[in-house]
Amino acid sequence: MAAFDRPLNLTTGVMELGRFRVDLGTRELRRDGVAIPVGSRAFDILAVLVSAGGRLVTKDELMSVVWPQTIVEENNIHVHLSALRKILGPDRNLVLTVPGRGYQLCVQKTDVALTSWMGGSMRDANQLPSNIALVGRETAVQRILAMLESSRLITLVGAGGIGKTRLSLEVARRTEEDSVEPAYFVDLSGVTTREGMLDAIMKGCGRPTGGAGVPEKGVACALSDLRGLLLIDNAEHLIAHVAEIVDALLAANNHVRVVVTSRERLRISPEHTFKVDPLETPPAYTSQVDIRGHSAVRLFLQRANAMQLTVGADGQQLQLVGEICRRLDGIPLAIELAAARVAALGLDGARHCLDDRMAFLTGGYRTARPRHQSLRATFDWSHALLDHTERTLFRRTAVFDGLFTLEALGVVAYDATLSLSSAIAGIDALVAKSLLNVQFEGPRALYWLYESTRAYALQKLRDEGEVETITMRHEHHAVRLPRRAGADQLNPEPGSVRRSSPTAGHHALNWSAAQYGDIALR
Ligand SMILES: Nc1ncnc2c1ncn2[C@@H]1O[C@H](COP(=O)(O)OP(=O)(O)OP(=O)(O)O)[C@@H](O)[C@H]1O
Ligand SMILES: [Mg+2]
Repeated sequence: MAAFDRPLNLTTGVMELGRFRVDLGTRELRRDGVAIPVGSRAFDILAVLVSAGGRLVTKDELMSVVWPQTIVEENNIHVHLSALRKILGPDRNLVLTVPGRGYQLCVQKTDVALTSWMGGSMRDANQLPSNIALVGRETAVQRILAMLESSRLITLVGAGGIGKTRLSLEVARRTEEDSVEPAYFVDLSGVTTREGMLDAIMKGCGRPTGGAGVPEKGVACALSDLRGLLLIDNAEHLIAHVAEIVDALLAANNHVRVVVTSRERLRISPEHTFKVDPLETPPAYTSQVDIRGHSAVRLFLQRANAMQLTVGADGQQLQLVGEICRRLDGIPLAIELAAARVAALGLDGARHCLDDRMAFLTGGYRTARPRHQSLRATFDWSHALLDHTERTLFRRTAVFDGLFTLEALGVVAYDATLSLSSAIAGIDALVAKSLLNVQFEGPRALYWLYESTRAYALQKLRDEGEVETITMRHEHHAVRLPRRAGADQLNPEPGSVRRSSPTAGHHALNWSAAQYGDIALR
């Protein structure tokens, strides 16, 4: 066994660690003055690390103190360490694993790391329920971690509520666990100005300005010695400012890595983009056994059953859950909101809610940000960031039930209020802002909307009194298009088609008629 550099005294002494107080004499751990229960072995591990005062403790050292008379498997350390980290919760980064070398208490970095993770950002600003486990996404996490090996800036891009923040938190957590360097968390969702953003970044990095404003030499310069991972969450409404500061920071600092989450990418040269896809949904006719294997279904069941329901107990229910998840396109926020409806309405009721989802999918977590309180609110956030042309184009895409071409959109959307060139620029913007999906078939781009996005766009179309005009144009186009281009050509391969064919005008008519009755047909 390796000898300790300096003797460890595990029987006396009190150590303050941010909000924590570790009393080695009474073997007590307190957070904010409140005693929290810790298992005996987990406490021993903490005691060793505390006594080492920030020095790296090897595995052998740890074992010789915690299990002095016994030879135990290394796995025991992991089990108790994991219990300890669970107790530390958002402050789990106090205990670092140095791969292949040992363990360390993050003492020197305590002020910084605790300010960033505890002082506000991780818990107060993000306000995700801390005990909610990540469902699925293992491949995504691994891919992002691998990208971080070679890229210093990754932006997680995707639609509202698709899970960017949740995924990025997991990446930050894993990065911290595998590194001696901390992760810093900055939530911008409540910030509205450039000054506020710079202030939030300084605070998140453990260097609060105390209301003194941005450091004179500039934030990038002030953070040029920052090490570790900086996670900037929810950046879309300040995208140009975030792009500017991140670019400057990466130029001033050769070590820090940055992860940004946003509905739109930064568009700066060091950036690598990771597109966050929805959770997996079961295709229709999936066997009952396989339905449960899809992450969207697992999330729905978890949320519904957290209310002490027994949803998904039989095959019929599972089929319904699968259908709901499919119609919600696997978007976690929408799934959470729908699952919450089950308590009062049952599965059938929750499914019916989807027909008028903007009205019924409300009631998010009380602690969630306002834009996650309802499905409409999450789209309102994106819609508010569109200019006039983009809004016009966006609502007019609502008539397409399935894939559509640029040409089709041009025919439907183009008129005196929207020139062709601005329509093309608008499509670019809608794709960039994660409101419109694009897929490629050879050289051709095909567009489509998530069902919820389409429901929101249709609401806007109705608000503007354009349902009839745009639906008629679409119907006219659907009749003419096959003659012009050839129907076969326009029907993508089976399997590559996400929904119906790009020319499915009758679907849009039927759909809007079903939604709005005579409004669409008047
Ligand atoms: N993989 C997941 N496992 C469990 N819960 C998830 C998962 N992904 C997302 N969620 C939950 O779904 C909700 C929305 O997720 P999140 O906040 O990460 O979305 P977002 O893409 O960041 O949204 P926005 O664009 O509004 O910032 C949250 O309540 C989150 O906890
Ligand atoms: Mg987010």
